[in-house]
Amino acid sequence: MVNFWHQLAIINKPFLVLAPMDGVTDFVFREIIAGTAKPDVLFTEFTNTEALVSKGYDNTIHRLKFSQAQRPIIAQIWGLDPKNFYTTARLVKDLGFDGIDINMGCPDRAVMKMGSGASLIKTPTLAAEMIAATKEGAPGMPISVKTRIGVTTMVTETWIRFLLEQHIDALTIHGRTAKELSKVPAHWDEIGKTVKLRDHISPGTMVIGNGDIMSLEQAGQAHTAYGVDGVMIGKGVFHNPWVFERIPKNHTGAESLQLLLKHTKLFCDTYPSPQRFPAMKKYFKIYVRSFRGATSLIRQLMETTDFSEVEKLVKQYI
Ligand SMILES: Cc1cc2nc3c(=O)[nH]c(=O)nc-3n(C[C@H](O)[C@H](O)[C@H](O)COP(=O)(O)O)c2cc1C
Repeated sequence: MVNFWHQLAIINKPFLVLAPMDGVTDFVFREIIAGTAKPDVLFTEFTNTEALVSKGYDNTIHRLKFSQAQRPIIAQIWGLDPKNFYTTARLVKDLGFDGIDINMGCPDRAVMKMGSGASLIKTPTLAAEMIAATKEGAPGMPISVKTRIGVTTMVTETWIRFLLEQHIDALTIHGRTAKELSKVPAHWDEIGKTVKLRDHISPGTMVIGNGDIMSLEQAGQAHTAYGVDGVMIGKGVFHNPWVFERIPKNHTGAESLQLLLKHTKLFCDTYPSPQRFPAMKKYFKIYVRSFRGATSLIRQLMETTDFSEVEKLVKQYI
């Protein structure tokens, strides 16, 4: 069945995806990126299926808030019990998402200890049950997986072959093992191997390469060298919020500061509680870079407590 992933692969080679990043790519940040230089696809932060089917629902459901501007938007979910994947898939479909992605790559110790995230690389039968339950809960919806190439050693051939045999619609490969975290350069050769496997096993599955891509130019090179259909960018957006721009331009410090104000305003409007404001501070560095006075401005921004203080300070620099 032709779905939006296939259409994207026809329009843009490679298509570009904003990576799911817990604590970073929340509703507000996605809204800013979608309104600035929009990637072809956006992912939510990973959202726990066990929480969504329990008392934790009220504290968790905000992670699945999105706007029309963020489409196509994929809900990334993680958990353990396939039954909860079924229920969550139904919910995600009802909410109107464009697709569901299952996290099988998180290297966080607590997540892996539960048997979730990258731990699933060691329990493929359970991984297949999760995929099947998700498909059953959201019939007709594109289902994808984001994973790594192993837990402690690279098992690309067997693990990716297994995933491709589940005939998922898209597969994102972060080219590192869980043990490697982000400490070594991504093994793009391994990502290239998965493209070849895909061609044999499941030609309809779109392959998205992920790891260390910082620019449109590098994304293009990855597509040419390794044949990936799409490229996912995570930390690259911290260095350049315009990283998804199809015709890259030079953006001035003033433009960057205007964007900081827009982000802070939307953050404060969305999360009005003063207790939430400190969580905004981790984003400041994205916008305050390489202009005279940047270090001093960052230092002062770290002392702010609300939007009006940020505005007053930043306007002096603009
Ligand atoms: C702060 C942070 C949070 C992350 N949270 C998630 C997550 O919720 N789900 C997920 O699949 N990957 C998560 N990742 C991994 C990224 O999606 C991506 O795979 C990784 O950063 C490598 O890509 P990059 O080199 O382009 O950053 C996270 C990474 C970072 C830095």
